[in-house]
Amino acid sequence: MKEVLYRHLAGKPMKILVIHGPNLNLLGTREPEIYGSLTLDDVNERISKLASELGVEVEFFQSNHEGQLVDAIQGAVGRCQAIVINPGAYTHTSVALRDAVAGTGVPTIEAHLSNIHRREEFRKHSYIAGVAAGQICGFGPDSYLLALRAAVGLVKK
Ligand code: DQA
Repeated sequence: MKEVLYRHLAGKPMKILVIHGPNLNLLGTREPEIYGSLTLDDVNERISKLASELGVEVEFFQSNHEGQLVDAIQGAVGRCQAIVINPGAYTHTSVALRDAVAGTGVPTIEAHLSNIHRREEFRKHSYIAGVAAGQICGFGPDSYLLALRAAVGLVKK
């Protein structure tokens, strides 16, 4: 039944934390030829819709600050069964985010709107990919939806 939330081991509904990194608050006006014209609220709305179809809860967090993103990842422990994260530019620079993902052990899917592998050289390396369950990029807002499906599949396994 669609309305019945998927129950995780402890009898609690599955909750996925969706984290948006720096500058993703500017979606809609930021380089629309690369990132599209949807705002972050539009993207979150699509994610919420899919989450309710899948019978899981989602929680959203956006920050432009590396430390706050680290805190959000750590804050998922014991509350969220998986994380979908678009680390924005911190993808390519942040050992701290990588360590947070590795250190907490919460299964994490990395998502990007653009295909980071066919852009500038410096975007091709991700510090997160090596500790993430997987990476999805290049499908615009659908990258988040694919990542959510992947996260739910991972937790159900
Ligand atoms: C991005 C790709 C990053 O290289 C960039 O710094 C972003 C957005 C994406 O979603 O395509 O901020 O993560």
